[in-house]
Amino acid sequence: MAVDVTVRANNRVIDGLQKENEGDWEGGFCFIQAADTQYGMIDSYEDNGDGTRWEKERLLTREAIRGANRMIPKPKFFIVCGDLVDAMPGSPVKDEQIRNLKDDLRLLDNSIPLICVCGNHDVGNSPTQESVDRYRESFGDDFFSFWVGGVKFLVVNSQYYEDSSQVPTLKKDQDQWLDQQLESEDWKHLVVFQHIPWFLRTPDEDDEYFNINTDVRLPMLEKFHKAGVRKIFCGHYHRNAGGFYQDLELIVTSAVGCQMGDQKSGFRVVTVNEKDIQHQYYELDQIPVNIKLH
Ligand SMILES: [Fe+2]
Repeated sequence: MAVDVTVRANNRVIDGLQKENEGDWEGGFCFIQAADTQYGMIDSYEDNGDGTRWEKERLLTREAIRGANRMIPKPKFFIVCGDLVDAMPGSPVKDEQIRNLKDDLRLLDNSIPLICVCGNHDVGNSPTQESVDRYRESFGDDFFSFWVGGVKFLVVNSQYYEDSSQVPTLKKDQDQWLDQQLESEDWKHLVVFQHIPWFLRTPDEDDEYFNINTDVRLPMLEKFHKAGVRKIFCGHYHRNAGGFYQDLELIVTSAVGCQMGDQKSGFRVVTVNEKDIQHQYYELDQIPVNIKLH
């Protein structure tokens, strides 16, 4: 098998992106937040196919990678916030979609870490021990932390908040780990990545397919806010959206792949300054070369 292109978290950390080597602030930087490469969805959603073709997503993903490779300064990492491929666990085309996705992601400049987040299509709407194990074999841990230039980043598996009925122990593992991670540490910013957004526009909006139920949502937002989290980046919606819980901003980023709204395929460029974090979504043909670190 070819060398894995994705950076894999093991034991809840990414080798080389830990507090020991990335714990100090060394000036502003940028990174790329993408979502829903979701190989196969355009065929099934837009083209009335059976999800067995994904050439369109391959072209879009490669275009995104080329855009990232051209950027000055180089992004410190490129993160894909879930629904890496469309096929659900058990689908006969899932392995091939993952293989093709990795072949395309391999075009990323190898000095830019490529980090994956787990989405509902990656482990199923109601994950099982087996679907999570398969994900971990393919992409590494599904929840973990990493550090870049004094900023602490947390990746969570939002599926445990959506439906953990078949995996209560895994959910408990994540809950306990998260509580430890949120204890105060000497970070410049504390940022969260996940697939399903807590909300799309406002924290008190009604429950629906694209957000997380209010009874779980509100305590979690309060927990994150209290710990100092001020940015949460998500995908899942295939449109741009977002809003605020107090001064915690939740950002929903449209897809690299299939669109469900007015945007075109693209990704978000995030610039991190000592004082704050800014972000801008770019359609693939608008990706800038020179990134101003504000
Ligand atoms: Fe998706």
